[in-house]
Amino acid sequence: MSFNDEYRKRTGYIEGVLKEYLPKQEGYQKLIMEAMEYSLMAGGKRIRPMLMWESFCLFGGTGKIIEPFMAAIEMIHTYSLVHDDLPAMDNDEYRRGRKTTHIVYGEDMGILAGDALLNYAFETACRAFDMEPENSGRIGQAMKILSSKAGIYGMIGGQVVDVKSSGQSVSGEMLDFIYRLKTGALIESSVMIGAVLAGAGVEVTDKMEQAARKVGLAFQIQDDILDVTSTTEVLGKPVHSDEKNEKTTYVTWKGMEDAKKDVTRMTEEAIAILHTVGGESSFLEDIFRWLIYRKK
Ligand code: IPE
Ligand code: IPE
Ligand code: MG
Ligand code: MG
Ligand code: MG
Repeated sequence: MSFNDEYRKRTGYIEGVLKEYLPKQEGYQKLIMEAMEYSLMAGGKRIRPMLMWESFCLFGGTGKIIEPFMAAIEMIHTYSLVHDDLPAMDNDEYRRGRKTTHIVYGEDMGILAGDALLNYAFETACRAFDMEPENSGRIGQAMKILSSKAGIYGMIGGQVVDVKSSGQSVSGEMLDFIYRLKTGALIESSVMIGAVLAGAGVEVTDKMEQAARKVGLAFQIQDDILDVTSTTEVLGKPVHSDEKNEKTTYVTWKGMEDAKKDVTRMTEEAIAILHTVGGESSFLEDIFRWLIYRKK
């Protein structure tokens, strides 16, 4: 099967999992469930649940215990995008090919839809305890990873420094810090949770974290490149958002050619780490490489 067919098969499966775990649209607060579905089901690349699933399979994981975590990571990622697009942050009007949540539902509901996705992600992940109570140790470990990588030492921490550095000159070290946290952390958590839920040991889980750290950096640099080189139609989100917000990015810092070289180098480094883990990781490797050539 070609990479595209494999990728489509997996996104189809992930979309099904996401739908299954979305809350029913009912009650006086129905509007918030609608806004959650609007942002979550708009069709992103689903790269985080995909990486989680591949890592789970790589370490011999079986059963459905991974599914609530796949839904949870995509909910957290989607909330980060809903808030990232708010007028107080990047102030963007398109996301995943649609008007952003705050444009359609208002800023108040945009904020609450983000909050709701974040909280519901943990409600969803907790369902794993009922599915496999005998594995509550592993599930607790996965919850710990999920919560810390999304928080002030992870994604939120990175967003804080990113937002506060708009219009300022930023050092290379600071830029690496921002990317590792705002983007790397959730990608790291994806492969780590896959490993932990499959029962993998600390050593290989650490290696997966290191590989994902490289992937996360490469992914954010590629995002910066596409912000300059792509179109809104292809990306499904506005181009030149970074310029508008006076962001220092890898492209403004190192120049386009070096930024592209760094994406390739970091991806190859990630693949080299992956090879030290062993097992059948060819599709995971294909996903890593695809991130370099992706158009959106
Ligand atoms: C966008 O993430 C924000 C970044 C971390 C660069 P994605 O590029 O994964 O967005 P979707 O999920 O495909 O919409
Ligand atoms: C945001 O980075 C990463 C998040 C944690 C949301 P960007 O601001 O560059 O993401 P896009 O380009 O809006 O998707
Ligand atoms: Mg941003
Ligand atoms: Mg943004
Ligand atoms: Mg961007």
